[in-house]
Amino acid sequence: MALAAAEVALAKSITPIAKFGGKATKASISRPLLHIRASIDSATVTPPARGKGKKEIKETLLTPRFYTTDFDEMEQLFNKEINKNLNQSEFEALLNEFKTDYNQTHFVRNSEFKEAAEKIQGPLRQIFVEFLERSCTAEFSGFLLYKELGRRLKKTNPVVAEIFSLMSRDEARHAGFLNKGLADFNLALDLGFLTKARKYTFFKPKFIFYATYLSEKIGYWRYITIYRHLKENPEYQLYPIFKYFENWCQDENRHGDFFSALMKAQPQFLNDWKAKLWSRFFCLSVYVTMYLNDCQRTAFYEGIGLNTKEFDMHVIIETNRTTARIFPAVLDVENPEFKRKLDRMLGINQKLLALGESQEMPLVKNLKMIPLIAALLSELLAAYLMPPIESGSVDFADFEPQLVY
Ligand SMILES: [Fe+2]
Ligand SMILES: [Fe+2]
Repeated sequence: MALAAAEVALAKSITPIAKFGGKATKASISRPLLHIRASIDSATVTPPARGKGKKEIKETLLTPRFYTTDFDEMEQLFNKEINKNLNQSEFEALLNEFKTDYNQTHFVRNSEFKEAAEKIQGPLRQIFVEFLERSCTAEFSGFLLYKELGRRLKKTNPVVAEIFSLMSRDEARHAGFLNKGLADFNLALDLGFLTKARKYTFFKPKFIFYATYLSEKIGYWRYITIYRHLKENPEYQLYPIFKYFENWCQDENRHGDFFSALMKAQPQFLNDWKAKLWSRFFCLSVYVTMYLNDCQRTAFYEGIGLNTKEFDMHVIIETNRTTARIFPAVLDVENPEFKRKLDRMLGINQKLLALGESQEMPLVKNLKMIPLIAALLSELLAAYLMPPIESGSVDFADFEPQLVY
């Protein structure tokens, strides 16, 4: 609840600039701020079909959010007749990169998986399942978004459309691989059910760009950081899926680079004061959500030998540095005050969670929540108003897709 409240509050506190909402076109698709952005909804995990009595486990997870966008506007943005900024040769180069399909043979399982899953018992088992489920939902959600964009942009811009289709190929692989991981724990995520049953949040294309760029890059930094850590500390390698993260995260990196190229083709989203405010807003929203989310699941990160806060700060700092190459402004996350603010938000969030779980009457709970939400909002606003770092450039003519590490 607290997180959802924080997100709503964040949106409300800075919405005078532009409004979320508006008409969504018929085809609804979904997109989380991949891996991290969350809303409280129940996800459905079912045992595989052969399991006796199809049992639905209700989870009160912070599962990734689903999005829908304005596809008519998307079509206009990528219409070569209307938008003269579209650098088709750059998109063709990117398309060739995606066609190469570096990870075609990467996602092959072996017998280690099931054996490792059986050894994970006790509280850690549930945390692993939650990790697989959340990641799978996020990847699958990306698959749906890219697939729909690939379909809708086919006529207007076949090159961009094909890239989206190839990215949906990658995300389908990622989601499928994670869902097979869930099968090792005798569970399966009902993706068909999720597609139909979940609520969708509308984001204008501009916001889809900011959010998706950030989620791909933060996903890259999360995966590569976990991979490197476990390579150095193999005693924490509890489940083989992490061994696949090295090549896997390069997919996410390429996806992020593509969004970078897309934003460059829409300089109006990068070159004015509104773009700077929105860039900071999305950075803050993504970083805070990840921090609160991960600190709530610290047992998972500690289970694989990481210090949750250090891991998150590393990911935030690296993502912010990467993002500064394209966003016109980013947050000063390396200023120690930023971390102090995150920790204060964490303290307030923990109080909100404890209150949510307490036995108090609903009215009393709500009354007690008001000052906590107000405190959280004021911390968020203070973090948002910290002097930002001017960054990015809309003139990088020498853009080339590249591997970050
Ligand atoms: Fe992915
Ligand atoms: Fe991705």
